[in-house]
Amino acid sequence: MPKKAFITGITGQDGAYLTHLLLSKGYEVHGLMRRTSQFNVARLMELCGGTAFEDKLFLHYGDSTDSLNITTLVEDIRPDEIFNLAAQSHVKVSFEMPVYTCDVDALGTLRILEAVRQAHLTDKTHVYQASTSELFGKVHEIPQSESTPFHPRSPYGVAKLFAYWMTVNYRESYGMFASNGILFNHESPFRGETFVTRKITMAAARILNGLQERLELGNMDAKRDWGHARDFVEAMWLILQHDEPGDFIIATGEQHSVREFVTLAFEYAGVSIRWEGEGVNEVGIARVPVYSPNRENASVSRFKPETGFGNTPMEERVVVSVNPEFFRPAEVETLLGNPAKSRQLLGWEAKTSFPQLVQEMMDYDLRKIPIL
Ligand code: NAP
Ligand code: GDD
Repeated sequence: MPKKAFITGITGQDGAYLTHLLLSKGYEVHGLMRRTSQFNVARLMELCGGTAFEDKLFLHYGDSTDSLNITTLVEDIRPDEIFNLAAQSHVKVSFEMPVYTCDVDALGTLRILEAVRQAHLTDKTHVYQASTSELFGKVHEIPQSESTPFHPRSPYGVAKLFAYWMTVNYRESYGMFASNGILFNHESPFRGETFVTRKITMAAARILNGLQERLELGNMDAKRDWGHARDFVEAMWLILQHDEPGDFIIATGEQHSVREFVTLAFEYAGVSIRWEGEGVNEVGIARVPVYSPNRENASVSRFKPETGFGNTPMEERVVVSVNPEFFRPAEVETLLGNPAKSRQLLGWEAKTSFPQLVQEMMDYDLRKIPIL
């Protein structure tokens, strides 16, 4: 019998990569999908499309805020493994929608754990909780390990703290195999468009094609431990295969600033950014194609990795500036993970380097240019 997995958040970045991984391992995959006016399966189609998986992937309408729906699905599916990835996952949005964020991210996790208990599956079902480096927030030590004290800095972080401890509590109270993966930032071409890395690569692709004048960002000094989502979902799976449940840091152990990410994205096309000014007056200046939002002109002047800019008219101008609209009420300035425990116990290591990650995202967004 193939193992059965139930993934909440299957339509998101990690959900799509994890589905691909589990299908390739022969799992029967069930996913929780929100009912919206659009069929939100673009990532799943792109990563897992094709007929090969047709009888192995089942999508169920539902919502993490709906207890009855979650309980019924868990009872019906009786999964061997649950990956609870569903979340309002945007930190800035969580300041604007704190109550909803807590309902989904905090109580949503409790609903999953309690559904397993109500369905008498505590001895059978392994539960993975998508915990986060945002738990460390205003960091108490560098790098952060499993024993670093938590200090969340946003409604998102606080909601995830509740979910973290509920997972530990169900493990300790009911002997459930319930584990936290404390994942540091992980990105990919399938990253949501308002997270900073994807915002940067999409904007750089447009600017390099004369389709966007400039990129506006918030705090460019923020530092993150950025890995690739493809590598990180392997760790999620390994966490549930381990002999014992537990809590694991998943990180690359390397840190870069937002500014470094921008610099590398433009360097992909051989374009150097000159940084001038400080704070809200800081700008990035570069020699790039003349801004010409007209699509016909843009298609003539397209940058291609093989041919460069060709005869495209170029100009030197500000391509990056700061807009305080993107600042957060409380910022997480620096995150750096120590993945020693997962390396030792799970044999997991990040495979994709920071330059490879930026390059893969740029490749993808440059290919997408005609339909942007
Ligand atoms: P994502 O792309 O934002 O995906 C979030 C998923 O949750 C989507 O499938 C979304 O559905 C679903 N969702 C949101 N609200 C829901 C609700 N009320 N009911 C049911 N489903 C709902 O996030 P991700 O980057 O894949 O991250 C996956 C998980 O890992 C999240 O819990 C996130 O907080 C956590 N995490 C992420 C990172 C990271 O760097 N990516 C790091 C640490 C932890 P729609 O498609 O309908 O919106
Ligand atoms: N989104 C965004 N937009 N962030 C910006 C911008 C901007 O224009 N300018 C600067 N930043 C900074 C943010 O202030 C933050 O310090 C950093 O870039 C990263 O922001 P995000 O990409 O939005 O990610 P995040 O670190 O806040 O949260 C992500 O990672 C967490 C793990 O540490 C999300 O995926 C969370 O769900 C996840 O838990």
